[in-house]
Amino acid sequence: MSANAFDVVVLGEVLLEVATDQPVAQGVPARIGISGDALNVAAAAARAGARVGLTAVLTDDALGAAVADRVAELGVSTDLLRFRPGQQGVYLVHSDPEGERAFAYARRHSAGSTLAPEDLDRSALSSAGAVAASGIACAVSESAHAAVLTAARLARRFVFDPNHRPSLATAEAAAAVLSELAPLADLVTPSHPGETAALLGSATPLGAARRLLAAGARRVAVTCGAEGVQLATADEETWIDAVPAPAVVDQTGAGDAFLGTLTARLVLGDPFAEAARLAAAVASLSVGGRGGTGLLPTLEQARAHAAHAARAGGDR
Ligand SMILES: Nc1ncnc2c1ncn2[C@@H]1O[C@H](COP(=O)(O)OP(=O)(O)O)[C@@H](O)[C@H]1O
Ligand SMILES: [Mg+2]
Repeated sequence: MSANAFDVVVLGEVLLEVATDQPVAQGVPARIGISGDALNVAAAAARAGARVGLTAVLTDDALGAAVADRVAELGVSTDLLRFRPGQQGVYLVHSDPEGERAFAYARRHSAGSTLAPEDLDRSALSSAGAVAASGIACAVSESAHAAVLTAARLARRFVFDPNHRPSLATAEAAAAVLSELAPLADLVTPSHPGETAALLGSATPLGAARRLLAAGARRVAVTCGAEGVQLATADEETWIDAVPAPAVVDQTGAGDAFLGTLTARLVLGDPFAEAARLAAAVASLSVGGRGGTGLLPTLEQARAHAAHAARAGGDR
């Protein structure tokens, strides 16, 4: 029996980020971050006012302790973290020869990817307002996939972000996971056009949303980058414009900031469209910071940003 009651529990792997905007070469300086979609989502949910637990496996050494310190610093409970021997997963963000941002992962057989059903706190999961996980967690290992499936079945509300990474899973495998989890999900949040086309075979956000509703998802939010978000339930289809970003430094993690905020605000009782508008405002500010947790606005800042954009839109 868990002593904890969480509004939101997030499952996944926390990664160390090594970032440079130069091509990799001897002596190039880089910046370390602590990231991964699960941590980004958990941090945004905590910022949005939820009590959040993170279920992830960390190493039982100084690296794991440093990661856990960051989890706590972001206002996320460390109670559901597991620690055991192994290697901390890492990704490198660098510039490819054409000057484009490129990602390289060193996470195979990492401690984080050993997440398994035995690591789950069943009581915390079944009592939480929502449980969130992504296609990345499902792709890193069979045991992590099994953990997500178990958690989805235990959850009162399960939130699934397909987060398809071609370096981790084929489109066929990711589509199969989506078909398996959509019927269990209260909310699914694919990105357009990448995931709607590759995983749902749909050319439009609304077409993709309808497919997920038909598959059994209760709510869908198709995120369309700087354009906005298509919301859909059986009763209502609503388009939400993106909130113009004051600064764009790093788009990575916009979807995570959006999802964490949306999940938290739904659990805390906000209507779907209102929660999504606030989540879009948070994501719009978050792209002004580096990494997934580099800039997370407070609720007050996000509300002011959303209201300002709504007024500017009304003046047009
Ligand atoms: N450049 C941007 N300017 C303003 N809002 C943005 C921008 N990029 C993303 N967003 C907001 O964040 C949401 C999620 O972003 P998106 O890029 O679709 O997700 P993902 O990171 O999953 O690909 C969008 O629906 C939008 O509301
Ligand atoms: Mg996404």
